[in-house]
Amino acid sequence: MTNQLKIIIFSLLFIISSGEIINNQRDFMVSTHLSDSIFQNYYCGNIDGFPHFKLTYHSQCFYGANHTMDREFWNDGTSPSTFFYLYNYLDMLNLEIPQNFYQDILKLTQDWNLKRMRDILLWDKLKLDDPYGVGIDDRLWYAISFMQVQNIIDRQNKTTQDFFDLANEIFGWVGKAFENNICGGGVFWDCDKNYKNAITNHLYIDLGTYLFEYTQDVKYIQKVKTIADWEIGVSEMLDTNDYLFIDGIYNNKNCSNKTYDKWTYNQGVYMKGYLALSDFYNDPKYKEVVFKSVETITQNKNHFNHNRLQFYPYLADKHFVILKEYENNDQGETRATFKGIYMRYLGSVYLYTIKDSSQESQKIKQYIEKYVTDNFNYVFPLANKRNSYPFIWNHQTPKILQAITAGTTTTVLDLFTLYDFIVAVNSNQQQNKMQQ
Ligand SMILES: *[C@@H]1O[C@H](CO)[C@@H](O)[C@H](O)[C@H]1NC(C)=O
Ligand SMILES: *[C@@H]1O[C@H](CO)[C@@H](O)[C@H](O)[C@H]1NC(C)=O
Ligand SMILES: *[C@@H]1O[C@H](CO)[C@@H](O)[C@H](O)[C@H]1NC(C)=O
Ligand SMILES: *[C@@H]1O[C@H](CO)[C@@H](O)[C@H](O)[C@H]1NC(C)=O
Repeated sequence: MTNQLKIIIFSLLFIISSGEIINNQRDFMVSTHLSDSIFQNYYCGNIDGFPHFKLTYHSQCFYGANHTMDREFWNDGTSPSTFFYLYNYLDMLNLEIPQNFYQDILKLTQDWNLKRMRDILLWDKLKLDDPYGVGIDDRLWYAISFMQVQNIIDRQNKTTQDFFDLANEIFGWVGKAFENNICGGGVFWDCDKNYKNAITNHLYIDLGTYLFEYTQDVKYIQKVKTIADWEIGVSEMLDTNDYLFIDGIYNNKNCSNKTYDKWTYNQGVYMKGYLALSDFYNDPKYKEVVFKSVETITQNKNHFNHNRLQFYPYLADKHFVILKEYENNDQGETRATFKGIYMRYLGSVYLYTIKDSSQESQKIKQYIEKYVTDNFNYVFPLANKRNSYPFIWNHQTPKILQAITAGTTTTVLDLFTLYDFIVAVNSNQQQNKMQQ
């Protein structure tokens, strides 16, 4: 398909979705269609107990030769969230869930073999010698997906509480084995206990928030507060010049040895938890961190490295690698998903701003709408064959960077999903206004 043709199709979809007679089901055509394509082209099913996505649509479906964990283990934990977010948005708007999409969700949830997963995610309980080389953050990505599965099951027919049970067990286990006062608080990244980083602590906060929402037990939100206070306090992981988190702190002597990279996903994963904290403790300071950070990113206020927190080319950097973060050759599969993860959590902030009519929230809501729409308009026409999206969304770049992978494509799905939701919400508001 030519680019021109794609643009025409895009324009048609846009006209349909913003037309006078609004059909909300149609608003999600873009994301449910891409979701279907990802499932057909990348999904391997249950391999060794774990639902697994192959890296490219040409690659085979296998793990390591000895059927243990291979690289991108963590991505297999979090990529199902992409579909669960889409499911939630449809559900929230009381829209009919398309049949194919529902089958994909069912398949995903039924493909988790919790017995097998428990063995690996909680291997030998607290013995800290990990044969699988799986990090603490890896385990938390899975646990968060489990809570999302549990929420979907509860809305369907409450057949099991197993997903909550395992997520809860992982939360307790991480706290017991990896949380302490070294460097003033927080949890460790891995079993070597050499590094405390933003992502592991953000994930611990996010999981605690899910568990609190599920059980209403305050012990979870209290724990979330402890970790958040450490993150924005003595850890010095939050740069208050731009409200972006740095990567982390090495555990050596005075904890002054830090890694200053500001990865995109580190600016997202904590946000849902911080908003919950502000509400529960009636303390705006957590919410302010979120809002200031969203402002930095959506308003290009961070000129550090040409603001690589954007999806689309910015300033003079015409060879911008969309999924690029910092260095020149970092187009690896891992980082391909960072921006998609950011989109999911930006969605949590968007939901918050819909419910909160304060001026500050309404300003942030508009920032998010513009940022997501701009990114969508830039990315949508760049689809490659089989409705997949490459690393480079600019056609003048070296071939090696044009790889298409599950990560690059699910990241785009995260963007489209939030875009579709924003369109649907605004159509609803217009309809409500018209009815008044
Ligand atoms: C899996 O295979 C790799 C490479 O042969 C080896 O290094 C590793 O120890 C094996 N892991 C297990 C758990 O057997
Ligand atoms: C309800 O649970 C059963 C057993 O797990 C399952 O087979 C069935 O598909 C579920 N129904 C729905 C509507 O999800
Ligand atoms: C921390 O330790 C390093 C190396 O021992 C030293 O150079 C640095 O000045 C110390 N920082 C503080 C704040 O004490
Ligand atoms: C910081 O810690 C890392 C990992 O232990 C080490 O490689 C690096 O040299 C340290 N940097 C400084 C300035 O101490």
